[in-house]
Amino acid sequence: MDVELRIRRFNPEVDATPHWESYALQAEPSDRVLDLLHQVKWFQDGTLTFRRSCAHGVCGSDAMLINGRNQLACAVLIRDAGTHISVEAMRGLPVVKDLLVDQEGFWEKYRAVMPYLVNDEVPEDGGERRQSPAERAAFEDTSRCILCAACTTACPVYWTNPAYVGPAAIVNAHRFIFDSRDNAHAERLEIMADADGVWRCRTVFNCVEACPRGINVTRAIMEVTRAIGERPA
Ligand code: SF4
Ligand code: FES
Repeated sequence: MDVELRIRRFNPEVDATPHWESYALQAEPSDRVLDLLHQVKWFQDGTLTFRRSCAHGVCGSDAMLINGRNQLACAVLIRDAGTHISVEAMRGLPVVKDLLVDQEGFWEKYRAVMPYLVNDEVPEDGGERRQSPAERAAFEDTSRCILCAACTTACPVYWTNPAYVGPAAIVNAHRFIFDSRDNAHAERLEIMADADGVWRCRTVFNCVEACPRGINVTRAIMEVTRAIGERPA
C-alpha cells in the first residue's frame, strides 16, 4: 500500500526552526512505523535521526508523537496508523535533532527517586528476601515500566513546569515504596512530598493514555499521594 509519512525535521546546525518533510513509501499493513523510519533512513535520507534499539516494545527508546499521540514507533502498525502518518519528537524535552530528544532532564528526575532496592539487612536464614504474592501484587503494575518517557512528556503540567518530578519518576518511586523488601520508602515519600512532587499532578490522565505498557499511572500517583498522607506524624 502507498503511505505518506510526514516527519517533523530539525537540524540545529542548519535550521532556525523545525519544518515538515513528506516521504512517499510502500508498506504492508503489518509493518510498523519504525519500519517506515528505517526505509527513509536507509534508502531516502541517511541524515534522518531517531532513537531505537530493541524494535520489540521492550527498551522504550523509540517513543515519539505518532499522529499526535505519544507511542512507540516499533509498536504501532501501519494498519492502525493509516496511510497518512505524522511523526514528531515528544514534547517537553529539548530536541537534539529530528525525532531525538535530550532525555537528561527525564533521567535526572528518575535518579532522584532512588530507583533501586535499599536494604542492608541480611535475611535471617541468610537466603532470599521472601515476599508473599499479595505483597508482590502491590507493585506489579508499576514494575512493568520501560522508562520510555511517553507519560512524562505527554503531561501538560510537565510542559509548563519542568521541575515537576513527572509521572514516570512517580511510577518508579511507587515500584519501590510499595515493595515490602525495601527500607527507604520513608525517604522516597519525602521526595514525593516535595513542592514539585506528586502534588503537581492535575489528574489530566494523558499519562495513562500514553503508556505503551498499559500501566495505570494515575492510580500509582494517587496511591503515593495517599501513602504520604498516612505517614506517621
Ligand atoms: S509509566 Fe509507561 S509511559 Fe511512563 S515511562 Fe513507564 S512505560 Fe513509559
Ligand atoms: S525500539 Fe525498543 S521499545 Fe521500540
